[in-house]
Amino acid sequence: MLTTYVAVTLITLFLMCVYNIGILSENLYSEQTTKLYAKANIISQSISGAWDSNDEKVMYLRLEDVTDRLLAGTNIRGVVTDNSYSVLFDNNSEAGMTGKVFMRDVLKRALDGEQSDSKFETDNGSTLTVAVPVEVDGEIIGGVYLAENMSAIADTVSTIRASLIVFSALLLFIIILISIGTSYIITRPIAEFTEVARAISRGDFSRRANVKGTREMAQMGQALNFMCDELNALDEKRKNFVSDVSHELKTPMAGIKLLCDSLVQAENPDMETIREFLGDMSEEIDRLTRIINRLLTLSRLDSGADMNMSRVDISALCAGVVESLSKLAKEKDIELTYEIPETADNYINADYDKIYECVYNIVVNAINYTPDGGNVNTRVKCSDSLCVIEVEDNGPGIPDAEKLKVFDRFYRLDDSRARDTGGTGLGLAITKEAVLLHQGTIEVTDSPSGGSIFTITLPITESGKE
Ligand SMILES: Nc1ncnc2c1ncn2[C@@H]1O[C@H](COP(=O)(O)OP(=O)(O)OP(=O)(O)O)[C@@H](O)[C@H]1O
Ligand SMILES: [Mg+2]
Repeated sequence: MLTTYVAVTLITLFLMCVYNIGILSENLYSEQTTKLYAKANIISQSISGAWDSNDEKVMYLRLEDVTDRLLAGTNIRGVVTDNSYSVLFDNNSEAGMTGKVFMRDVLKRALDGEQSDSKFETDNGSTLTVAVPVEVDGEIIGGVYLAENMSAIADTVSTIRASLIVFSALLLFIIILISIGTSYIITRPIAEFTEVARAISRGDFSRRANVKGTREMAQMGQALNFMCDELNALDEKRKNFVSDVSHELKTPMAGIKLLCDSLVQAENPDMETIREFLGDMSEEIDRLTRIINRLLTLSRLDSGADMNMSRVDISALCAGVVESLSKLAKEKDIELTYEIPETADNYINADYDKIYECVYNIVVNAINYTPDGGNVNTRVKCSDSLCVIEVEDNGPGIPDAEKLKVFDRFYRLDDSRARDTGGTGLGLAITKEAVLLHQGTIEVTDSPSGGSIFTITLPITESGKE
């Protein structure tokens, strides 16, 4: 980045210098040319009135007077010739050109009637020459030739060039300093973010990026840290889940092992004891199977892949659940009621089996955790966009602090009692996952009777309405 900056600046400064110097020297030369033409024309006009070809001496003095007056204080060489290139006057008397032929291209063009100029290089620098004709009564009778050394202009141009180079070098230096500073400000946090990202990929979620610096960098740092927090929480959950699974599987396995050992160590056990031990083992195996089946269901929901969506009549589904659990409710002497919704349209677009399992889990919980002789009421309320399923019981209720936790995996309120009653602690976790897969919500609130109300809210999509 720094190299690009410097390269672009260098090229820009170089082009700027070349262009400006070119324009400047062109302007200075053209201004000087105009001035020289003006002088030559004034001389030409002044001497045309004093032209006297009869008396060379008088003529010389007149020409000398006019030319010296106009060129006084300059380093301009002035030569006046007649129309056959013979020098009538030369202010550089040392050259001894008076009376001799003075041939120059510009003078030739002037004697042809066209004023002209030219520039050429000498050992002393460049020289600018102009020549204009001298006319008397419309006839070209001679020419004025002026030559000026342009070293002053060359000096000015080279002074300005030197100043521009110094200025450009200074500017370049400042730009390099700023570029180094800027790239340090930008690259340092990026290097730090890269290091943090590498640490995350190595599984070190404790690292955090520095969120100081420019607004964009701070935002990037915050996003990275947020991702770190989320990954950390996810990793924590994963570890807990693995340890919970091991713990849950260990208990029935330990039970089976104990039963096996007892049976092996028993001397001549009778058939009834063997049958009793095997019956206990079978119960533990059932429990293991139940946990494994629940875990498989959860893992399928986690992958979210096999959704079998169809148009589902939600009131018929709930009625089916209540119907299938009526025997269980009767055994516990629980009054299981169901309120059929008044609205006609109770269809949603859903995976029938998954929603059935959700409703089943919360109704079976309500029956299981409500003491004998209680009430469990299931109702469905559908509006244009939402379908709400409520299961209310008058059981012990769930304390506020536990209301969110009951949806966690393996979470049981009264752990040992729930375990004894065969609960895996996965029913509500499965229900929540399935509801979320349908873009719905699930919550638990207190019932006025002291029990709980579990509420599942599912959106009614356009395809569900058809
Ligand atoms: N209606 C309810 N009233 C009181 N407590 C409840 C109710 N529903 C659930 N709970 C509590 O929430 C815990 C979690 O319920 P969840 O259905 O997830 O697991 P479980 O019923 O123990 O096991 P599983 O459903 O897998 O057989 C239960 O152990 C129970 O303590
Ligand atoms: Mg349950």
